[in-house]
Amino acid sequence: MSDMFDIFLVAPPGLEPVLAEEARDKGFADPRAVQGGVEIKGGWPEVWRANLVLRGPARVLVRVAEFRAMHLAQLDKRARKVDWASVLRADSPVKVEATCRKSKIYHAGAATQRVSTAIKETLGAEISDTAEVVVKVRIDDDLCTISLDATGEALHKRGHKPAVGKAPMRENLAALFLRQCGFDGTEPVVDPMCGSGTFPIEAAEIAAGLYPGRSRGFAFEGLAGFDADAFAAMKAGARLVAPQARFYGFDRDAGAVKNATENAERAGVGGYCQFARQAVSDLEPPEGPPGLVIVNPPYGERIGNRKLLFSVYGALGKTLLERFSGWRVGLVTSDGGLAKATGLPWLPTEPPVAHGGLKVTLWRTGVLG
Ligand SMILES: C[S@@+](CC[C@H](N)C(=O)[O-])C[C@H]1O[C@@H](n2cnc3c(N)ncnc32)[C@H](O)[C@@H]1O
Repeated sequence: MSDMFDIFLVAPPGLEPVLAEEARDKGFADPRAVQGGVEIKGGWPEVWRANLVLRGPARVLVRVAEFRAMHLAQLDKRARKVDWASVLRADSPVKVEATCRKSKIYHAGAATQRVSTAIKETLGAEISDTAEVVVKVRIDDDLCTISLDATGEALHKRGHKPAVGKAPMRENLAALFLRQCGFDGTEPVVDPMCGSGTFPIEAAEIAAGLYPGRSRGFAFEGLAGFDADAFAAMKAGARLVAPQARFYGFDRDAGAVKNATENAERAGVGGYCQFARQAVSDLEPPEGPPGLVIVNPPYGERIGNRKLLFSVYGALGKTLLERFSGWRVGLVTSDGGLAKATGLPWLPTEPPVAHGGLKVTLWRTGVLG
């Protein structure tokens, strides 16, 4: 494989442009938003850096090969020509996953088996269903694209959050929503229904300049060409700052407050976050300058009863309108009727985003009067 290749940042569907903006801000050359993700080009250091520093992707894939495959024998032959030794290690087990769409090769199981055999026989690597290294084969319109999953466990798992409650927001989604709300790390954030604390913790990490991948391992550590010293130096290059702003989370559930507090401690941002048990109707703005209220209240399909939820959203809207002049609001829900029940002056929304089997929308206000 050459020194530069196509790298694909898998995005939460609907948030591709926001992820492209994050990649651009973090110095990745020419990110291009396409359906399902963002394309960039680079070598292995860019693959490591994308996993380490980007908050928005679900995972990072590396394009290894692309060729036409009209039938299985051709797939077999062309898969054997791939320079597997330049990307995989003979001593690391490999798993192959295939999908077929609108193609003459329609049997994903057969495609998996052909590529697995090609890797086994040309490289000598063991094929195992439990392998950390995953080769993804996509056959679409007879075009076969082979990629490597450089990430392993999905990137929303930052590595410090065993304690989750009901319906947690994925960290990568939370980070992209914070970005869409214009959060840049300098203003306070309040989440009045914080659950496990995802929004305040992501916000505090962003403000502190911490790399999201600092505490976890990645599949690329088991690939050919991984340079542990160079990666350690990259990790050590984070420019940490002591945030001026503070990040607040409230929840009426004592267990949620305990989880959020522990999660923030584990993430190393406990000193910048404050969590307390409080119902939304008792919410007051913290002292100091205004900032961003961001909240992901319960929605009917997953937890709670829709009628009761109308009064919760109503109470939230009333509290914010009465007490949070100067603040902006971001609210994530799958239920537009509930968002409107807040009575908040919503700006036009962007298309919804898939999350946990539902479509959620970020509702935003300008600065409240
Ligand atoms: C969908 S969860 C939030 C998940 C959170 N974003 C996370 O990532 O873990 C909604 C939270 O709202 C809390 N909640 C529901 N009604 C509330 C109320 N009236 N006041 C404060 N919190 C409330 C629930 O206890 C629950 O933790």
